[in-house]
Order: sequence, then C-alpha cells, then structure tokens
Amino acid sequence: PRRLRVALLGAGAVGSQVARLLLAHADELAERAGAPLDLVGIAVRDVHARREADLPAELFTTDADTLIAGADIVIEVTGGLEPARTRILHALTSGADVVTANKALLATHGTEIFEAADQVGATVAYEAAVAGAIPIIRPLRDSLAGDRVRRIMGIVNGTTNYILDRMDREGLDFDEVLAEAQRLGYAEADPTADVEGFDAAQKAAILASLAFHTSVPLTAVHREGITSIDAGVIDAARKAGYVVKLLAVCERLVDQPDAAPSGEAISVRVYPALVPRDHPLASVHGANNAVFVEAEAAGPLMFYGAGAGGVQTASAVLGDVVSAARRHIVGGPGVGESTRAGLPIVPIGRITTSC
Ligand code: HSE
Repeated sequence: PRRLRVALLGAGAVGSQVARLLLAHADELAERAGAPLDLVGIAVRDVHARREADLPAELFTTDADTLIAGADIVIEVTGGLEPARTRILHALTSGADVVTANKALLATHGTEIFEAADQVGATVAYEAAVAGAIPIIRPLRDSLAGDRVRRIMGIVNGTTNYILDRMDREGLDFDEVLAEAQRLGYAEADPTADVEGFDAAQKAAILASLAFHTSVPLTAVHREGITSIDAGVIDAARKAGYVVKLLAVCERLVDQPDAAPSGEAISVRVYPALVPRDHPLASVHGANNAVFVEAEAAGPLMFYGAGAGGVQTASAVLGDVVSAARRHIVGGPGVGESTRAGLPIVPIGRITTSC
C-alpha cells in the first residue's frame, strides 16, 4: 500500500511524545489510518538539544523547509506565531495536510490559514490546540453542527487550574505552585501566557469561533489573569462557599444594542470567577480541564480530562494525524473549517459569580 510521509516540527514536551508514539505504535496506527505513517523527520532549532534521548538521532534536522516540501502530513507543535505561520502556509501550498496544536497562531491568524487550506483543498486539524487531550474541537465543529450553542464555560488552562487548586486545597503560595507546574511540563515556555490568561483567551477565541460559526479576533476577548489572586482571596472565597477558577466564557447574547439584525451578539471573556462549590466545574482538580457546553437542543454537555501535559496532548495530535491520513488516502476535499465573519462580538466585563 501507499505510505504517508509525516514531518514533525518541534520536539518539545508534546512533539517528543508524538514522535515516540508514532514510532512505538506504528503498526496499529497504520491499520487505523489505512497506510503506514512514516515519520520522515523532526525539525528542531538545535539538533544537539534533543529532549528525548531515545528518539533516533538521524530523524533530527534543522532544515524544516526541505522536510515540509517532501511531506504528506505536517505536524506543527513548535508554538508561537513565526516561523510556525510561514511553515504551515508552506506545508499547505506543498499539498500537505496540517495538524497543529498552536492556539496562539490559530487565534491570531486562523482566518488566513483556513482560507489557504480551503484554496488548496487541504485540512488544518487542531484538536490539540484547546484543552489538551479532551475532544472538544470536533464535537463543536461536527457533532453539534446541527444544534445551536448558547454558552460555553471552560476551564481551559491546566497551569492556572493546577495553581488555584493547590492554593485552595493545600494553602500553598502562588510562586511555589507555579514552579511545580513548570516542572511537570504544564506551563507554556513563558508562563506569563498561562497566569495572565493569554493562553485561555486564545483558546476562548477558537472555541467561540467554532461554536458561533464566526471569527472571533483575540482582541475582542476580555482577559484577566490570576496574578492578583492570593491566599486571602482564596480563603475568603472558600468561607463564602466558592472556589476561584479561571473561566473562559463564550456566550450568545440576545437583544444587544449593536447586535446583528437577528438581535444576537456574542461575548467572550476570561477571568477568575467565583464558582459555587457544588457546580461541576468546582470539582475540576489539578491540571485537568473541563468544557461545559450548553446547546439549545442537546442541553448541557460536559467535556472533561487532561488539559495539559506532553503525552496527553500528543493523544489529540495523533487522532488528527490518523484522520488526516484517512482523508489523504481517500483524496476528498477539505472539510471546510474556514471561519467567516458572523455575529458581532460584544466584549463585556467581569461577572464574578456567573456559573
Ligand atoms: N500551558 C497550557 C496549559 C498547555 O497549562 O493549559 C496546554 O495548552
């Protein structure tokens, strides 16, 4: 049978696990994908700084462009805007399908990237970009395509949930727990992205765009982080029957003054919220994530699991790789993931007890 050439860009916490699983489960993945998936190379900045000593040295290269040009599927897990953007556009114009975990890139340049994919009939899959291992992109895009999503409330950043949870349960200091989250591989390279809510805001923009069939710019997302949350705040919240959680809330609003002719608009915001202790989101501990979706016909749905971590996120990446491989073999058109202008976005302020 035909073999598919898979290029991996990045060998960090997620990339090294993607490579390890691709090699370790090659036979099983080939069966599921319908063709062997040959990992033809891993592009890194410095071949000497390999994270995983047990990956074959000959796979590593600093020549990402040549690797991309010869690939059927390109996996981008480097993060950041550039050179990730240029490389993904290069992959698409070279005829490859793309799998990425890059929420910053999709939240910032998603429209450009999806349009580029549509033009060449390729796909950009990004299940790993939001909430780590939890399937949430495909449920929103496909499973709920016939429904109307009213609201999403998500704990979508593992690092901040880990920090807030340990502060709440063990009375630890912010800095102490942050160092532990970094050591466990949950935090972004620059943890400011986690604790200031940028990471959650990027994920909120992606979720809202999918849920409301629109294009939510990152600049429209109201964002507050958790750096002002100290032991005193956590303690006061506990005494009042609440737990502090960093929530991403995406809501369809009705009867807004600046709304679409239908009277609807949306609000997307990230902020430390007081969640009642008996709400399902209050019992999301550690680096876990949960996305609570309220849809008109389906009612409330809860997606829960590991929101960060290398091997957990690699699971979501590999699921997209298998799907891309199946599609590549069948040779069908792209699945139309492009985002369009839709409902107006009304950034609104903090609602401390909205849960
Ligand atoms: N730093 C992110 C988090 C990783 O803590 O959730 C997953 O996007």
